Order: sequence, then C-alpha cells, then structure tokens
Amino acid sequence: MASRPHLHVAAIFALVWVCSELTGLRWERMRYTVKGFEIRSENAAKPASSAGRWLLEWIAKLDCRYSGLDLGCGKLRYTIPLSRRVKSVVAVDSQVQVDRVQTLSGTKSSVRRYATDNLPNVRVYSLNEDGWRRRSYDVVLCSNVISAIPTRKARAELVSIAHERLRHRGIFMLTTQFRNSYFSSWASDPLAIPHCDGFLVRGKKNASFYALLDSDALVKICCQQGFSIIHSGHSKELAFVLATRLR
Ligand SMILES: C[S@@+](CC[C@H](N)C(=O)[O-])C[C@H]1O[C@@H](n2cnc3c(N)ncnc32)[C@H](O)[C@@H]1O
Repeated sequence: MASRPHLHVAAIFALVWVCSELTGLRWERMRYTVKGFEIRSENAAKPASSAGRWLLEWIAKLDCRYSGLDLGCGKLRYTIPLSRRVKSVVAVDSQVQVDRVQTLSGTKSSVRRYATDNLPNVRVYSLNEDGWRRRSYDVVLCSNVISAIPTRKARAELVSIAHERLRHRGIFMLTTQFRNSYFSSWASDPLAIPHCDGFLVRGKKNASFYALLDSDALVKICCQQGFSIIHSGHSKELAFVLATRLR
C-alpha cells in the first residue's frame, strides 16, 4: 500500500485533539471543558488591589536572596509584592493570560508587557514556553490556582510541576479561598451545578468553576506529590499549606 504521510500527520493531529477534548483540557489556553461548558480559568484572576493581607505579610518575611516562581500568576496580584521582596521572580500562566491586553494596576497592558515595563526582576513565561522549566526556585507560590481547575488530574500535574521546580529544601506555598458568601449560596442556586469538589457556575456566555478546598485537601494533594508539610491551616477565608521538598 502506498504510504500517505499527509494522512498520518492528519491522524496524529486528530488523536491529539480527541485526547485533549477527552481530558477536558486544552493546554495552551488553560481552558477546561466540563459538562459541555467551557471554563476560561484566566477570567478567575483578581486584580492586585484585592491581594489578601495574610499572604502579603507572608511574602514580606521571605529571604530577600530568594528566587521565586509564581505559578499561575494571573494578573500579577502576588508577583508584584514578591518582586519587591525577593531577588528575582518568574511568573507563569497560560498564553492567553500573559499575552491578552487587560487592566493591570490601572494600566492597559499585557502581563508580559507590564513586567517588561515596570518590574525589572520579573520574567514572564507562558506555560508552554520552556525557559522557566530549566531552573529551580527557592520559593514557589501557587495562589488560588488549583481551586480554578476542575479536574483532580490537572491539579495533581500542577502541584507535581511545583515539586519538580522547587529546589531541595525550598518552600512551596499553596493557597485557596475555601469560604465566602457566594459559596454558601451556590448550594441552592439553580445556575450552580455541583461538580467534582466544587461548583460549576453558569454565566450568560460561559461558565466558571470553583473548588472548595480546605487545608486538609491541600495537604493531601501536596503529600501525594511528594512534598513534606511544614505548616497548614486557615486564616479567615484562606486555606494554606507551606511545604518543602526533601528529596
Ligand atoms: C484565580 S486565578 C489566580 C491568579 C493568581 N495566582 C492570584 O492569586 O491572583 C487562577 C489562575 O490560574 C491559571 N491557571 C489555570 N490552570 C492552570 C494550570 N494548569 N497551570 C497554571 N496556571 C493555571 C489561570 O489562567 C488563572 O490566571
């Protein structure tokens, strides 16, 4: 039978597409498909003005010689305070999040451009670029990211990447917001559909997802990925785990 290389290439593309649809995950954009709804997780990011005091105070005590990784940096809410405290910061998010023009600290810019113009010790990468994966970091921050991810598998993959990138005896801070008034109202809201350990909330154009993960749930995810727990708990609506890498 004559070989048809174009058919082979088309078959490979089709297979990759089917796999990404089946896992509900489109890597380059970090959009997830659940129950037929597309979840644009980039829209869950909050502005710098809504940074929480507990995490800001934790950042303010970090060793200033540290190199930091802000994994799922969103609108740079914690990248900016991190960059003021530690020596250098790498901020990573989906391509759409780092390259779209949005309002950042009152300026219309993209995350990438904003960092180039205003944050000399910050480098921004999209998840599918590999520059940030070639090194290890003294501190890795992953704030409010896993609660925006609707599959346990994708969350585990992200925490495993944090483990891989953390230097030996470095520190990993994983946080979520595990309580607020919206969360309690979702239980009786017909637009909020229970999914996994959270809710899929239908909007006019698309849907958003929020997992309700307390500190025990965060500890479990961290232990599964090989972290050793230093400390965990809650501060008001925030759940956190501080962990390290011993192997
Ligand atoms: C709620 S925002 C939090 C942003 C920021 N960390 C903060 O606290 O303001 C969630 C972010 O996670 C990103 N995200 C979603 N899935 C991700 C994944 N698998 N890896 C890295 N980032 C992801 C989204 O694009 C979004 O910017």
